[in-house]
Amino acid sequence: MLFQALAMPIIQAPMLGAGAEALTLAVSRAGGMGSLAAAALGPAALTAAVARLRTETDKPFAINLFILPPTQADLAEVRDAMARLAPWRERYGLPAQNIPNQWAEPFEPQFAALVEAAPPAASFTFGILTRDQVSALKSRGTFVVGTATTVAEAKAWEAVGADAVCAQGFEAGGHRGTFLKDVGESQIGMLALLSTIREAIGLPVIAAGGISDGKAIAAVLAMGAAVVQIGTAYLLSEEAATSAPWRRAIAEVADDATHLTRVFSGRYARGIENDFMREMQVFSDEIPAYPIQNALTQELRAAAARAGDAQLLSLWAGQSVKLARPGAAAEITRQLWSEAQEALRTASSRWL
Ligand SMILES: Cc1cc2nc3c(=O)[nH]c(=O)nc-3n(C[C@H](O)[C@H](O)[C@H](O)COP(=O)(O)O)c2cc1C
Repeated sequence: MLFQALAMPIIQAPMLGAGAEALTLAVSRAGGMGSLAAAALGPAALTAAVARLRTETDKPFAINLFILPPTQADLAEVRDAMARLAPWRERYGLPAQNIPNQWAEPFEPQFAALVEAAPPAASFTFGILTRDQVSALKSRGTFVVGTATTVAEAKAWEAVGADAVCAQGFEAGGHRGTFLKDVGESQIGMLALLSTIREAIGLPVIAAGGISDGKAIAAVLAMGAAVVQIGTAYLLSEEAATSAPWRRAIAEVADDATHLTRVFSGRYARGIENDFMREMQVFSDEIPAYPIQNALTQELRAAAARAGDAQLLSLWAGQSVKLARPGAAAEITRQLWSEAQEALRTASSRWL
């Protein structure tokens, strides 16, 4: 089992927009498992990334993909969405928007490249693989992880033959993996989700969402999690690709500043509230679904990052964002694990 090869039960979460190969490598080399968010990579770039990671480390790492059906765009809806974004584009002097040639990287070619590249582990979100797709990965020696936000989703991943399930609580930063029910019916906190998934399936369970210090790691290991997956706590690490205005927003954040929104991407995600989130909220129900809105806001978000303006950026972060810590990712990983060991010792010496 792949987790037995780890020196620490810590997975650095895949984070599109904030992750980087250097972050993946730093955590894998430190004894946890780094993940690389590869959803935006075409097949050739994905193959090259796996080859580079393999050259740089003999430790396990994971490649993460979004499972999305081909996009069906309604052009009238797209034009309405572009009209809503036009005043924001003017703010940055961006020219009138063209309809993008591609809404997202098509999944099938990405998946074929992934099977061929055969990374040590692969994790998936937003959907589910078929039994044959899981078998194809496993036959190449890749450990398969599916993301679940409900017990039914965890059972579905077990049924297609996944090796482990990532139980992703409501607290988690960024987009969550919900794929069976409506997001409103999939808002389960990490403790309840972990306990109920652990009882419902026979696979190892990875706990994710709101885990940003050693005490939280100790708690979920005591609850039976095989390993933890941590995203937000790495957002300020030196190796993360988190932009400067995003880092400043995290450093200055108020305790309860994260909210769920679909205004940036068309899919609910958790981030720090800003002007774009507040002002676009009135259109929340009309905004086209992921990945259409995501593609339409891409240039705007890039312009905002260049201009250092946090008010127009998607500032993805989880509910424990106050605990994000600066420093080298390897050091953060070692600190988290030594704090967790200390917390486990303290709890057992106090109560046993
Ligand atoms: C900035 C950011 C980007 C994310 N991108 C991805 C992604 O590309 N794929 C994925 O499966 N999960 C993604 N997530 C979710 C994380 O993998 C993980 O489940 C989550 O960060 C755990 O909760 P935490 O943020 O409270 O630690 C992202 C999270 C953040 C904060």
